[in-house]
Amino acid sequence: MCGIIGFVGKEPAAPILLDGLARMEYRGYDSAGVAVRSETAGLQIRKTKGRLQVLSDLIHGGADLDGSLGIGHTRWATHGEPNDINAHPHVSENGRIALVHNGIIENYMELKEHLMRQGVHFTSDTDTEVVAQLLEFHYNECHNMLEAVGRCLRRIEGSYAFGIICADYPNALIAARKDSPLIIGYGKNGNFIASDVTAIIKYTRDVAYMDDGEIAVLTADSVDVFDDEMSPVEKAHSTIDWDVSAAEKGGYAHFMAKEIMEQPEAIRKTVSPRIRDGRVVLDDLHLPEEYVRGLSRIFVIACGSSYHVGVVSKYIWEKLLRRPVEVVLASEFRYSDPLVDERTLVIVISQSGETLDTMAAMREAKRRGGRTLAIVNVVGSSIAREADDVLYTWAGPEIAVATTKAYSTQLVLMDLVGLYLAEKLGTVAEDEYEAILSEMQLLPDKMQRFLDHTEDIQYFASRYFNHGSVFFIGRNLDYAMGLEGSLKLKEISYIHSEAYASGELKHGTISLIESGTLVVALGTYAPLFDKAMSNVVEVKARGAEVLALTTEDFREKMEKTADATIAVPVTHPLLQPSLGVVPLQLFAYYVALQRGCDIDKPRNLAKSVTVE
Ligand code: M6R
Repeated sequence: MCGIIGFVGKEPAAPILLDGLARMEYRGYDSAGVAVRSETAGLQIRKTKGRLQVLSDLIHGGADLDGSLGIGHTRWATHGEPNDINAHPHVSENGRIALVHNGIIENYMELKEHLMRQGVHFTSDTDTEVVAQLLEFHYNECHNMLEAVGRCLRRIEGSYAFGIICADYPNALIAARKDSPLIIGYGKNGNFIASDVTAIIKYTRDVAYMDDGEIAVLTADSVDVFDDEMSPVEKAHSTIDWDVSAAEKGGYAHFMAKEIMEQPEAIRKTVSPRIRDGRVVLDDLHLPEEYVRGLSRIFVIACGSSYHVGVVSKYIWEKLLRRPVEVVLASEFRYSDPLVDERTLVIVISQSGETLDTMAAMREAKRRGGRTLAIVNVVGSSIAREADDVLYTWAGPEIAVATTKAYSTQLVLMDLVGLYLAEKLGTVAEDEYEAILSEMQLLPDKMQRFLDHTEDIQYFASRYFNHGSVFFIGRNLDYAMGLEGSLKLKEISYIHSEAYASGELKHGTISLIESGTLVVALGTYAPLFDKAMSNVVEVKARGAEVLALTTEDFREKMEKTADATIAVPVTHPLLQPSLGVVPLQLFAYYVALQRGCDIDKPRNLAKSVTVE
């Protein structure tokens, strides 16, 4: 949510800032801006409402701005509508301090009123401008920028990642972080700050993750980091091991299409290293045997699609572990006075590892004595670093706002952890364990086979893209999978859709089914296929148009009743959602394509939700 970048070095800053922002545009895209310091012109600020391209055109790809110190921002508006004035960077009243911000300043009103009483004039509606003005206020007091930043941070409440430049410090970029991600990149021709490694991987793989409360001062050839008491901190460096091409479209029209197609490989990478001699081996999980045996309850907390992974996993884990598993939206969990104690395992699922609600819920669980295990995609992210244990999904960078490969890898990793715990608890029969594990290893090939022929889904999308409202219905694992199918469709095609447990339909919702209503009926879970068929018959009898999803072995039966049928390869029933979700992703993608939507950057959304 909002992307920030900063560069100080021996090259023109503006093109580097624009390039980095382009790679982070998925974090926010309602306005963008840069501030570049030049010898002759001082601080030059250019910012505009709209996509990054508008800014890039305005400054001719950066050629208009001279100088090798700068900061940039791509915005997802929280305080103040998206317009030119509210866009970042924000500048102090005397024009000498500029800053970009990701996060929310919670006490900004109080600070603003205080500064206004001192005669400070504000131009924007944002919380961020308050920090620019406050910095000037403290700088005027102490005439030392680092000291001014320290004083300012002690007064603000909320979350932030800041990039700051000051006309009086022509060679220094200052950064600070609390509860919003920020990394430092160490380059040959200069140093960087960024919200995400994707922004700077083209220039350096050598990075360090800033921790909460830290302040960094970067010059072209030095980086000094301080803690909240201004004591120097020695930062550990990490090397990014993926290639820049992993964050590029590689010939696909959209990142989402590319990422859907990458799923077989992502699953292979996530699963293969964790299966040895027919057993699940989780080297990075350090749960003592007695702790596992003494587990009283398990929570899964997450948001959005990651929450949907939790809903699927609940069905699977309760079968395998015979222990209660509660799946709770992170935003609800944190304020629910949750029943967590030392015998509670709290699984936290997050692609970005930065989702604020998920992180806050995890901290609440830890505070109450629970043990936390994070399933995360972004290496070194805040949730990954704060959890007691972390298992990474090896999906690689996911750029499209609508998640696909992260969802799929989270799901198989949860399957693996479930099997691992079930083995420790002795709650899974050996033949069942082996059957699931061997099918799991076949998933990538089966998924690939399906992905090789997606023409029928394209055709169905062209048939149905004009529907204004869609119902996804299913039971058990199909219901859980339908939640994700429905979210995919809404977020990228803007069609209203709902996922319903089929059995619930007749308790109210069936009144909405009328002639022509599109119902996506999910019948991939073999043990309940007959029940799924009955529901298809029921909605057909009320005039619904039914697009059914089933497995290859039930295709013939389904085709007799449904108007259109998609069939995925058969796998173990508990793994079937891993294959079933793929056509739902593709359906959403092709429908959005037909409707001319901005697939990778849907309206109002951002990839990483770092505000509450
Ligand atoms: O990074 P996270 O997994 O914590 O993100 C959670 C949700 O914001 C995310 O899954 C969101 O729902 C996706 N846009 C769905 O496609």
